[in-house]
Amino acid sequence: MTSLPPRGTPTTHHSHAGEEVLIRFTDVRKRFGPKVVYDGLDLEVRRGETVTIMGGSGVGKSVMLKLLIGLLRSDSGSILFDGLELTKLSDRKYGEIRRRIGMLFQSAALFDSLNVGENVAYGLHEHFHHSMDGGEIRQRVATSLELVGLPGVEDMMPSDLSGGMRKRVGLARTIALQPEVILYDEPTTGLDPINTARINNLINGISDALQCTSLVVTHDMGTAFAVSDRLAFVYKGRILLHGPPEVFRTSNDPRIENFIKGIAPHTEDVATLLATSG
Ligand SMILES: Nc1ncnc2c1ncn2[C@@H]1O[C@H](COP(=O)(O)OP(=O)(O)OP(=O)(O)O)[C@@H](O)[C@H]1O
Ligand SMILES: [Mg+2]
Repeated sequence: MTSLPPRGTPTTHHSHAGEEVLIRFTDVRKRFGPKVVYDGLDLEVRRGETVTIMGGSGVGKSVMLKLLIGLLRSDSGSILFDGLELTKLSDRKYGEIRRRIGMLFQSAALFDSLNVGENVAYGLHEHFHHSMDGGEIRQRVATSLELVGLPGVEDMMPSDLSGGMRKRVGLARTIALQPEVILYDEPTTGLDPINTARINNLINGISDALQCTSLVVTHDMGTAFAVSDRLAFVYKGRILLHGPPEVFRTSNDPRIENFIKGIAPHTEDVATLLATSG
């Protein structure tokens, strides 16, 4: 018997998204001196779904991801991950969480003195040196590079890679740890349309292959609508709107409409460029 599709909101891609809440921010507050970034952040992410975080520059999207992996600590409120209260964890205990939640940073920073294979293996050596031997690590590196469409590039140096390839190697390094959650901070910024489309496909493909939960921060509406089960719009320290793509397409709230429309010409450009490139 085939299993039924998940109940609830219609999803765009991820049939493995269920109802179980994996991550829950409740009344999270965070400020830097006088600058209030969050004054009541509430957000739920279900296991297996892809949620896109949108909002203007400087509104706190990267801060949200950093609060989740413990690079920043909230001032108050609760952040639950798989039943664990993260705000109560010691820095040492957070090590275990960082293995379960992989992050692709906005800069996709690679170590320039290490080759691609060593870059991808880096976290494996750090986290799994007791449980994986050299051969297993090499195998995991090879599979991860294949998953991002870059098989056999282990010996290349980061300086020899294009921007799009660097992003994909950064992604291979993240997925090598086989995390349950992947956080993508602006995964397509600075990429041409072909590479943007490639990354969009990779986000969906990796979500399916690893059956993972994904949080994607992006300004690119094309990416937002291509990968998301649900979207969340950050505005003035809170989530203004949270729901499936059609809720955003049909929203009459001018703050949402303006944001989506303000970026619409860019996505039209992408389509035009795709049609005329190559
Ligand atoms: N470590 C920090 N110390 C002080 N202020 C910070 C720190 N990190 C972030 N901020 C401030 O918090 C606010 C939110 O920053 P954040 O990086 O989350 O924005 P963002 O939504 O990711 O923006 P962008 O789209 O430009 O990446 C900004 O005003 C930023 O200057
Ligand atoms: Mg940011």
